[in-house]
Amino acid sequence: MTAVAGAIGCDVTLANLPLRDDLRGRSPYGAPQLDVAVRLNTNENPYPPPPALVADIAAAVQQEARELHRYPDRDAVALRTDLAGYLAGRTRVPLTVANMWAANGSNEIIQQLLQAFGGPGRSALGFTPSYSMHPIISAGTRTQWIPAPRRADFSLDPAGAVAAVQAHRPDVLFVTSPNNPTGQSIPPADLAAVLAAAPGIVVVDEAYGEFSSEHSAVGLLGQFPDRLVVCRTMSKAFAFAGGRLGYLAAAPAVVDALLLVRLPYHLSTLTQAAARAALRHGSATLASVAVLVKERARVIAALRDLGAQVVPSDANFVLFGRFADAPGAWRRYLEHGVLIRDVGIAGHLRVTVGTPAENDAFLAASAAVLALEAL
Ligand SMILES: Cc1ncc(COP(=O)(O)O)c(C=O)c1O
Repeated sequence: MTAVAGAIGCDVTLANLPLRDDLRGRSPYGAPQLDVAVRLNTNENPYPPPPALVADIAAAVQQEARELHRYPDRDAVALRTDLAGYLAGRTRVPLTVANMWAANGSNEIIQQLLQAFGGPGRSALGFTPSYSMHPIISAGTRTQWIPAPRRADFSLDPAGAVAAVQAHRPDVLFVTSPNNPTGQSIPPADLAAVLAAAPGIVVVDEAYGEFSSEHSAVGLLGQFPDRLVVCRTMSKAFAFAGGRLGYLAAAPAVVDALLLVRLPYHLSTLTQAAARAALRHGSATLASVAVLVKERARVIAALRDLGAQVVPSDANFVLFGRFADAPGAWRRYLEHGVLIRDVGIAGHLRVTVGTPAENDAFLAASAAVLALEAL
């Protein structure tokens, strides 16, 4: 929470406000933002934009600044065209601008999806543990959240998933692949079985898609155009987390549905221009994916050598344990100058794969922290 001492109105508390009853007692999203040398807690790409991209963004923003007295293109047609080109090139699926939608991060995409397809009297189901914002945005849109379990090893049991979908018949189903915070992807054949059983919209959250060895769910759009939505982001592999750009691929009617709930001009002219520049430099940026995948293997092997149990990962992070006291272990990492994430799974912590030097620092801290565990 923001420091309030001395601020006008600092004696007013949430209890004094006419807040919706269903929001009382809830916790906001809160990955700690601490000034620590090694920050491996929010799954960003550790490599900053290369100088050529920085220069291109600056030039694009300067160009657009001349028109800032005008509202942006509220349908972001040029950006969506570029996104279609990128995703079609990657997946070999002939996507066009009509299949794409973009917003300020995939969190906003998810919010718009729940505004359009969830809401009061409707439900959303996800396989937990998974991305913490799915239930938080469900709550914000008054969509009933239904958690369904993963296997003990955190993988998704396709038969169990189909049974959960048939039992609860959610209006919106979330399948995160690779799953955050556990790391595994769902094979397209298993996903197809879940899609076939789903009565509502199925949001496949592929925030970490570029790191995965599985094919994108975009390949299933032709088979399930009335329910499949593939949600992606430029915050991870694209090294554009600060730029805030998420997008989806779906049937054009899904985009029509989102036009009903999006705020007009939600994507600023500057965001659109910067994202287009980032896409122009996509292949240079995405060259880091191979480096990070190799580093992931090194981190996993080294953690195992130190005696940790590591969950297999298809993303740019690794879930590992078992700690007798995960919050205590998280604090010990911090004392070593390494910020990782306590995602609330008993005995486990999650670390983002960083640069080789950051990973070395993490592994050195791990040697100390895990040695204490063994005592
Ligand atoms: C699975 C998943 N989906 C969506 C997001 C949201 O990303 P953004 O809003 O930055 O696009 C994240 C971010 O951590 C994530 O892990």
